[in-house]
Amino acid sequence: LRTAAVIPAAGRGVRLGPGAPKALRALNGTPMLIHAVRALAASRAVSLVVVVAPPDGAPEVKSLLDAHALPDRTDFLVVPGGESRQESVKLGLDALPPDYDIVLVHDAARPLVPVDTVDAVIQAVRDGAPAVVPALPLADTVKEVEPATTPGDPEPVLATPERARLRAVQTPQGFDRQTLVRAHETVTDNVTDDASMVEQLGERVVVVPGHEEAFKVTRPLDLVLAEAVLARRRL
Ligand code: CTP
Ligand code: MG
Repeated sequence: LRTAAVIPAAGRGVRLGPGAPKALRALNGTPMLIHAVRALAASRAVSLVVVVAPPDGAPEVKSLLDAHALPDRTDFLVVPGGESRQESVKLGLDALPPDYDIVLVHDAARPLVPVDTVDAVIQAVRDGAPAVVPALPLADTVKEVEPATTPGDPEPVLATPERARLRAVQTPQGFDRQTLVRAHETVTDNVTDDASMVEQLGERVVVVPGHEEAFKVTRPLDLVLAEAVLARRRL
């Protein structure tokens, strides 16, 4: 079974603040996207990486990838992305050659995921799960609220789900290719998580242990943490 990785990297990174598209921002001198591509290419099972670039940034992303060495066993493709993450993933899937049976979808914004996490996701798909998500228990208690219409107003609490049953999901999420393609053809509401589309099909989705270093670079403080992790790895 051959495995390809689709890396959505087309977002602007509004929550990170003004600047280049998030995936092109540097972490210790190297673009976040390059760290993310290397993290997936580190798995011996991954033989193709499809990078979904900012809509007008495909040539720039292509030359970045040409300039940063990947393992010989790894090919890459660059396609322009769309308005939503979901649309970007779909455009990446559309570009996949026929001979791949397992697809990983990995946020460029999770540049530091360890290869052991990538391999654990692939193994669970190989073992027969149509969809696999890496996830961690939550540190914070979570409350469901009635969102305020005016930002900053107090928000009524509706419920407190039992924390021990909750997981914070990460990427790479791994899929049987046909299942993910069917999900993208069937599910029309916008989602922030690929596996939830497979859940909506009624297919089985399983969780495997995630990793703290697979956190998503979302806000400015996350850049500080990412650079500290890289420095600890001496990269
Ligand atoms: N993404 C994408 N296409 C979009 C929106 C997001 O490929 N239209 C990608 C991002 O590049 C990122 C991943 O989806 O790698 C996760 O999204 P997120 O962390 O929300 O990134 P952004 O959407 O760029 O950030 P923000 O929501 O703060 O603008
Ligand atoms: Mg976003």
